[in-house]
Amino acid sequence: MKVLGIESSCDETGIAIYDTDKGLIADQLYSQVALHAEYGGVVPELASRDHIQKTTPLIKAALKESGLSFKDIDGIAYTRGPGLIGALMVGASIGRSLAWGLGIPAVGVHHMEGHLLAPMLDENQTIDFPFVALLVSGGHTMLVEVKAIGDYRIMGESLDDAVGEAFDKTAKMLGLGYPGGPVLAALAEKGEPGAYDFPRPMIRQGGLDFSYSGLKTFALTTWNSSTKTEQVKANISHAFQEAVVDTLFIKCKRALKDAEAKRLIIAGGVGANKRLREKLQELPADVFFPPMKYCTDNGAMIAYAGALRLQAGQTEPAEIQPKPRWSL
Ligand code: KG4
Ligand code: ZN
Repeated sequence: MKVLGIESSCDETGIAIYDTDKGLIADQLYSQVALHAEYGGVVPELASRDHIQKTTPLIKAALKESGLSFKDIDGIAYTRGPGLIGALMVGASIGRSLAWGLGIPAVGVHHMEGHLLAPMLDENQTIDFPFVALLVSGGHTMLVEVKAIGDYRIMGESLDDAVGEAFDKTAKMLGLGYPGGPVLAALAEKGEPGAYDFPRPMIRQGGLDFSYSGLKTFALTTWNSSTKTEQVKANISHAFQEAVVDTLFIKCKRALKDAEAKRLIIAGGVGANKRLREKLQELPADVFFPPMKYCTDNGAMIAYAGALRLQAGQTEPAEIQPKPRWSL
């Protein structure tokens, strides 16, 4: 089965084709980062307009890359939610209409399920169920117990800012631009360990929820009361990153124990963080990361998750119903 996947939930247009026999056979991505940079964040209306312009050309490019034509496609998967309503509407309308026109099934995929299954796109690793997944993106921070495809239990989540959001907001405060997460992470490598000691929120009480807005404020207070040098900026980045990574580490350890699981997979944009990758290797579990390019938003994860769902016989009626808010 060959499934065309469309991702358009935020600021990336991702189009991919997943073949259940051969694996990923096309993967096209266009990032709108430059478009939103001058505003310091994603502007929803601009995002929707850009998805409209890029989706069809990228579908053509994906077909060309795979050497296929529309008649070879057996199903369409598009991101149904959660995400920006206008942006989702573009992918859903194009995906659903295309499926209708071609007379093939379509399925709306949960964006976080896409992230959650992304490590399985790596042909060099097989991941057996059950496992615990840590989803860390710009919009979500959650620990999920995964017993099988579609059998998910949310074990804990952020009560305020998502971890990627906290990275981005802290980076913005330090004048590191947008999206600042990766920039802050790079700067953290130049920081002096121990220069600042940041709190580790929500680790004393039991449970698996997270909180990151206090850490962001702590970084701001520290910056405002310090001499503003590049080294201080690096030191704050370092201390912030260490605190975030520590809290994620502690909660993952707890979650693995609670679920009696031996496998942990990391998904979402923050999964690209080097320090997090390094630290989580210390866990008493097999830890899997998606290949770097599948950590952030992409069409491949949607094509893959959609292929699994279509193979299981799941399709949707012809209505176009994006879900900007949708729990896993
Ligand atoms: O999954 P994703 O591409 O989009 C969402 O669905 O949110 O995640 C993007 C988030 C952004 O907040 C970005 O700053 C963060 O992931 N991110 C990082 C790194 N690379 C991306 N955060 C920390 N360290 C990184 N290396
Ligand atoms: Zn995402």
